[in-house]
Amino acid sequence: MRRQMNLISRASLLPRISWHAGLVAKRAMGSEKDPITFDCIPEDRFCEVIEHLRKNFFCDEPLNSAVGLCPVPGAPHAELEKMSLSTMKQGLSVMALMGESPGRVVGVALNGVTRPGDLEVAERQLALSPDPKFRSIFSLLNEANRKLSLYERYNVDSIFELRIVSVDSSTRGRGLAQQLLKKSEEVARNNGYHLLKADTTGKYSQRMAAQGGLETVYTVMYDSYKDSEGKVIFNTSPPHDSLKIMVKKL
Ligand SMILES: CC(C)(COP(=O)(O)OP(=O)(O)OC[C@H]1O[C@@H](n2cnc3c(N)ncnc32)[C@H](O)[C@@H]1OP(=O)(O)O)[C@@H](O)C(=O)NCCC(=O)NCCS
Repeated sequence: MRRQMNLISRASLLPRISWHAGLVAKRAMGSEKDPITFDCIPEDRFCEVIEHLRKNFFCDEPLNSAVGLCPVPGAPHAELEKMSLSTMKQGLSVMALMGESPGRVVGVALNGVTRPGDLEVAERQLALSPDPKFRSIFSLLNEANRKLSLYERYNVDSIFELRIVSVDSSTRGRGLAQQLLKKSEEVARNNGYHLLKADTTGKYSQRMAAQGGLETVYTVMYDSYKDSEGKVIFNTSPPHDSLKIMVKKL
């Protein structure tokens, strides 16, 4: 029952067409011909979202790009897709759509909730991953999160995580990520979460998060993160120089 009510509040939160969305479209596209709207991600659009991620996130996210996780745009990645799908199934994710209904997916924020103990489960699963590049990325993220005692520090028993933010390469730099963060924060508040967290791996997502009021609680500079032989593991392209774990109390 509680679950159903949450779904209803999420659905009513993000109207398909709104004056506000029209304003965003104007700023984002410079014309009203291609309106942008924001909505929850329903199950029948999961495949489209995965397609979007293959073309825009798997190859372009700074750590993925540094290790060459998916060098060919559009290429699949089984584990990233599994992770994305299980996050979308939590029903807290948001998409940006361009054009008249049903619209084209041009951006997503995949949001999920973590609770004490989840990190240990994720670490055990990661150890079974056959892809060393994937393991290296999530080892960094898991290690950094393990060092923080966010549940105790903020006195919460769950954390609303912005896990993946991705915008179509043709519509970047126009405020869509900031809008996706804003909508995600609304979803978090409407569902009763008190801490929003993002593991930001590049300069642009760090700016997006700072703009949205998140504060940095932990930083790893990539040039100081080395393997046992002293070799830098992530040679990211400028201006992406660090991982920042950023949070906002809601
Ligand atoms: C990161 C990403 C989601 C940003 O999406 P976006 O819609 O272009 O971001 P926004 O337009 O909302 O801009 C967010 C901030 O980054 C800045 N920014 C975005 N692209 C920029 C660019 N190419 N050059 C300089 N600054 C840029 C914006 O100016 C803004 O900062 P400001 O508020 O201080 O001005 C997008 O670049 C992307 O999908 N990248 C690949 C996947 C990825 O890296 N995801 C994040 C991983 S944590």
